Amino acid sequence: MAKNKITVSVIKADIGSVPGHNRVHPALLENAKKHLKNAKRKKLLVDYFVTACGDDLELIMTHGHGVNDKKIHTLAWDTFMSCTELAKKMKLYGAGQDILSTAFSGNVKGMGPGVAEMEFEERGAEPILVFMADKTDPGAWNYILYKVFADPFNTAGLVISPKLHDGFIFEVHDLYNNKKIKFSCPEETYDLLALIGTPSQYVIKHVFTKKGDIAASTSTTKLSLIAGKYVGKDDPCMVIRGQGQFPAVGEIIEPFAFPHIVSGFMRGSHRGPLMPCSIDTAHPSRFDGPPRVIGVGFQLADGKLIGGVDLFADPSYDLARQKSNEISDFLRMHGPFEPHRLGKEDMEYTTLPGVLEKLKNRFKKI
Ligand code: F6R
Ligand code: MG
Ligand code: MG
Repeated sequence: MAKNKITVSVIKADIGSVPGHNRVHPALLENAKKHLKNAKRKKLLVDYFVTACGDDLELIMTHGHGVNDKKIHTLAWDTFMSCTELAKKMKLYGAGQDILSTAFSGNVKGMGPGVAEMEFEERGAEPILVFMADKTDPGAWNYILYKVFADPFNTAGLVISPKLHDGFIFEVHDLYNNKKIKFSCPEETYDLLALIGTPSQYVIKHVFTKKGDIAASTSTTKLSLIAGKYVGKDDPCMVIRGQGQFPAVGEIIEPFAFPHIVSGFMRGSHRGPLMPCSIDTAHPSRFDGPPRVIGVGFQLADGKLIGGVDLFADPSYDLARQKSNEISDFLRMHGPFEPHRLGKEDMEYTTLPGVLEKLKNRFKKI
């Protein structure tokens, strides 16, 4: 790593909650904090912030070791294993859910937890926003990132700031075929949208400035594709840099004022609005939802996380929350019918095939 570079690593996992899939128990949060405090004392971490969104335990860490670092991933893994032990003792629901294998070899990718990381040279003033969602999947960020980095109706800076006027580069991952592709926007906006409008398959992994500065990074774990069957949802996290050559903080959080419809909700098998919440209200309750998102904002000071500002603890998001409740009411009225329930293709990765299997031999030719 170059001397003046800092890495922000957000690593999260559902390792048990109370009651059902509602929220992380405070004892797990305390235990995770203890682990990261120790790592900070040993100078492995520069700083840390531990929080939760619904049943997902979120570790926000800064350090000087770069992305995909074995020591940092091992720290996160050990923290999750220790919290799992505690969750098992307390008989929390889904204890150890996202620990898909115990054969850990230094990187949590593909092991169950979600990871969003970025390494960069810290600017004179460096705003960092971390978004974490529950009861949805990584495709939930597509709409948001498109609005923030490509839509001039959202981000005024794309039109009126010379620093943003060139646009951004989007790296999209095809989760089904393990391939990636980059699009330069605004020139290739329609090509980008052709893919990311299908968020179950194509997800935005990174956004860069045209000069190559990292602007955003997301987690893209699909547990069902790893485990080969339904094993819970792939509740995602994301890091975005703000201000200057990047969109302003207000432009980054603006798209969340529209609670767009995402996959997830009950049994990861439904569609519902993404409700922006304060940290202390991010507990999906009604029908295990509606899907929630929290945002935490920091200024970096030589890697130190200054702030921890609860971005959606703001009355200007009240209307989005009210709309989320109205949309939830409307969708819930559909019960087991599409489009509340996911389409046939996406239902293949849920618990439905287990039921359909039973009916297979009862079909007769018409
Ligand atoms: C888990 C989730 C929940 C569960 C549901 C059923 O992240 O989204 O909605 O799918 O509570 O859970 P089980 O099958 O464990 O009873
Ligand atoms: Mg859970
Ligand atoms: Mg969750």
